[in-house]
Amino acid sequence: MRLLVVADIHGNRAALDTVREPHDACVCAGDIVDYGPEPAACVEWVRANAAYCVRGNHDHGAAQNVEIPGTGGFRYLTSVTRPHSVAALAPDQRRYLADLPTSRLFTRAGKRFLVVHATPRDPMDEYAPAEENFWRPRLAGLNVDYVIAGHTHQPYTLRVGGTLVVNPGSVGLSRDGDPRAAYAIIDGDEVQLKRVEYPIEDTIRAVEAATADATARQMLADIFRTGGMPTRWLRPGNGNGNGNGNGAH
Ligand SMILES: [Fe+2]
Repeated sequence: MRLLVVADIHGNRAALDTVREPHDACVCAGDIVDYGPEPAACVEWVRANAAYCVRGNHDHGAAQNVEIPGTGGFRYLTSVTRPHSVAALAPDQRRYLADLPTSRLFTRAGKRFLVVHATPRDPMDEYAPAEENFWRPRLAGLNVDYVIAGHTHQPYTLRVGGTLVVNPGSVGLSRDGDPRAAYAIIDGDEVQLKRVEYPIEDTIRAVEAATADATARQMLADIFRTGGMPTRWLRPGNGNGNGNGNGAH
């Protein structure tokens, strides 16, 4: 059993195109769209390749055309890029996002997996750090070997009792200071958190074509090049930090 685990693709087709690993099944932990310039191609790839996929907060927001107010940071980027996501997606692609489950249980090679975008308790929005005390109550009674979750855009694995939490990081919008695409491979009992370089300038060129707002274009270019939101773009109270809420991550 070799699983390819992806999350938080965020419309970054150039990054997604570099994630090419042999696998028996692909798992997607949500946030296929928003921020990045090519959401439709990413939805098509996930539809064609992911055996198991859940809905992220941004998939939900684009499917339902949720408007996010925000004047700074990631909330601002969501407010600017969501209309593009909605316009770029065909009706059946938005329906696909709307129909995705918020959690998914499956068994593979005798191992039980739970997939959520965020956490089992709050599957689309809760921000989960790599802390045992945070995860322990959220895993109580689940009886699974693996929990696969994204949302933080920061890869980690965390052993909590009999469960291994696997966060593959973000394919398309890293936030851990490493601008490369992140994903994970689960191969038997071995988990690898992997990174791969991708043509970042191709993504930035696509942003130039897709995003009319000059401030958003510059913010996105900075994030794609550095693997995080530079402090010069941060303003207090606008969903910039690691907090919760539909506008972020
Ligand atoms: Fe995300």
